[in-house]
Amino acid sequence: MKPEDFQLLSGMLKERSGLALSEDKVYLLESRLTPLSRKRGFDGLDDLIREVRVRHDEVLMRDITEAMTTNESFFFRDSTPFDLFRDKVLPRLTGARAQTRKIRIWCAAASTGQEPYSLAMILSENQARMKDWRIEILATDLSNDVLQKARVGLYSQFEVQRGLPIQMLVKYFTQVGEMWQIDSAIRAMVTYKPLNLLESFDHLGRFDAVYCRNVLIYFDQPTKADVLSRIRKCMQDDAALFLGAAETVLGVCDSFKPVSGERGLYGIAGQ
Ligand SMILES: C[S@@+](CC[C@H](N)C(=O)[O-])C[C@H]1O[C@@H](n2cnc3c(N)ncnc32)[C@H](O)[C@@H]1O
Repeated sequence: MKPEDFQLLSGMLKERSGLALSEDKVYLLESRLTPLSRKRGFDGLDDLIREVRVRHDEVLMRDITEAMTTNESFFFRDSTPFDLFRDKVLPRLTGARAQTRKIRIWCAAASTGQEPYSLAMILSENQARMKDWRIEILATDLSNDVLQKARVGLYSQFEVQRGLPIQMLVKYFTQVGEMWQIDSAIRAMVTYKPLNLLESFDHLGRFDAVYCRNVLIYFDQPTKADVLSRIRKCMQDDAALFLGAAETVLGVCDSFKPVSGERGLYGIAGQ
């Protein structure tokens, strides 16, 4: 790939999704965009790049942006953020919200739904104690394709074997041919909406717990700081933030502090 083509694509991706690509990632552009160029009827990647250069085709730009996102996810990923939610955060929140009986959770880069559905299953397990509670799980992502898959809730054998305890599979999924579909009651607990973290999310209101996992790793430092400081503004003062195993607030955003001894869990600084 010519250096000017790399500049064009990486600049566009940075602006549209925050993805910061270093020059050693040319192979990633080539491996992900070559199939897209074929699918869109171009003669190859050079042709696709020419189109980007001469025409402002919004649909093509969106397809390129979505093709470059990494959507890997699995149920109860890294287990600790879900154990902590079940054993520490949820009991604390049910105490603190005993008056309003309302809890709002946001999965800010939800991909194909395994993260919000893992939380929905935990909440469902607590149903007996939380009967008259209003629980909202909002799941957002930049990519419409992954959100569509999440809404349908159909997963392959491989996907349900990654992280999902067998008892949960039996209890909450139905086999559909070679796939497994998560039950409609669990699906109904999650609301999916497209949302780009680079754009304003003030309108979402305030949350009691935010999962923003395995997305900040793709951003540069100023973008991480900007997204985190805006996430803080839509969290209650006693809310919990969960980041991915390779992510931290330290040295990035001083609105949060790590919760001592609880890996991946952050509270609001000064609270
Ligand atoms: C690796 S997945 C993480 C999924 C899940 N949070 C987890 O940890 O398993 C990263 C997701 O971030 C989304 N993403 C990337 N850039 C984004 C942006 N600027 N705004 C919102 N979502 C974005 C991608 O579409 C992708 O689905």
